[in-house]
Amino acid sequence: MKYRKFGRTGWRISEIGYGMWGMGAWKGSEIDEEALRSLQRAVDLGCNFFDTAWDYGKGYSEGLLGKTVRANPGKKLYTATKVPPKNFKWPARRHFTLDDCFPPDHIEEYTHKSLQAAGLESFDLMQLHTWEDAWLEDGRWYKKLDDLRRQGLIRAIGISINRWEPWNGVRAVRSGLVDSVQVIYNIFDQNPEDELFPACREMDVGVIARVPFDEGTLTGKLTLDSRWPETDWRHSYFVPENLKSSVEHADALKPLTPEGMTLPEMALRFILANHTVSTIIPGMRKLHNVEANMAASEAGPLPAELQSELRKHRWVREVTEWSQ
Ligand SMILES: NC(=O)c1ccc[n+]([C@@H]2O[C@H](COP(=O)([O-])OP(=O)(O)OC[C@H]3O[C@@H](n4cnc5c(N)ncnc54)[C@H](OP(=O)(O)O)[C@@H]3O)[C@@H](O)[C@H]2O)c1
Repeated sequence: MKYRKFGRTGWRISEIGYGMWGMGAWKGSEIDEEALRSLQRAVDLGCNFFDTAWDYGKGYSEGLLGKTVRANPGKKLYTATKVPPKNFKWPARRHFTLDDCFPPDHIEEYTHKSLQAAGLESFDLMQLHTWEDAWLEDGRWYKKLDDLRRQGLIRAIGISINRWEPWNGVRAVRSGLVDSVQVIYNIFDQNPEDELFPACREMDVGVIARVPFDEGTLTGKLTLDSRWPETDWRHSYFVPENLKSSVEHADALKPLTPEGMTLPEMALRFILANHTVSTIIPGMRKLHNVEANMAASEAGPLPAELQSELRKHRWVREVTEWSQ
């Protein structure tokens, strides 16, 4: 595993981290065991950055992270979580106010709830789970997070940017208030390169690249017949028009995948070529996915020719009713 600097925090974090969203839905002792085995395997393979949130099972995924930290007392594992917006609506919309989403008492309440769920005394990174640059006009969110940092309950402050809106975080980065941003960045979503990444480089802000497989499209496993239970949010995300274009876009990449390489490996190694990215956090539940994804770090960035071919597959999408 290779490590990268996490912006101005100076932390050395694994370039492949762990996305713990999917684990929020996993409940039951047998299932917990598999989740904990997958997390432990990641630790054993050198992963030291874990991204969770209160909303991933109302503290459930945070609880699994706490157990993993306690099971590895000799290792520094970086814990990142998120305060949910008070209105529990994703993404933030332009008319949502700070009071709708992140009033100071709510930030405080959920920081304590998350600490309790994880059984930890502090988190390394606390992120706001939605973001609007307009909230910069009202400094109460920062004051409260800074307060929690002074109390030692959190060590750094981050924001998680809405899907397909990397522009809506550039002012936050330039404000100098945030230590990190979490943004969707993958073969299709290359837009963060335009304005967000240059600002992050300038301000030395850490970058967490999320959704590297485009919610599953870039695993190459979706077909026009793919369906999800109503309780799975992908049921409402992969509406017929999205499923069709997602499958078409993934199919266009398949002939480019070199022999012996899988599409998910190609997707991760595409992101590794960008040195503004501090860590990539694929969502993983299965052990074999953990092993495959951690190995991408040693394999390193793709050959330059393939990288530039893939750059042509940028897919610019607009926010819609279903994009969430
Ligand atoms: N607003 C936000 O802040 C926000 C929103 C979305 C996500 N996130 C974070 O970003 C993380 C990643 O996003 P995501 O989980 O939604 O999407 P993703 O990483 O693009 O895709 C995850 C899916 O890919 C599968 N997968 C993983 N590795 C694979 C491999 N090597 N081969 C084939 N399939 C593989 C996983 O299967 P299994 O689960 O079965 O292993 C899972 O179904 C989340 O876990 C979460 O931490 C944050």
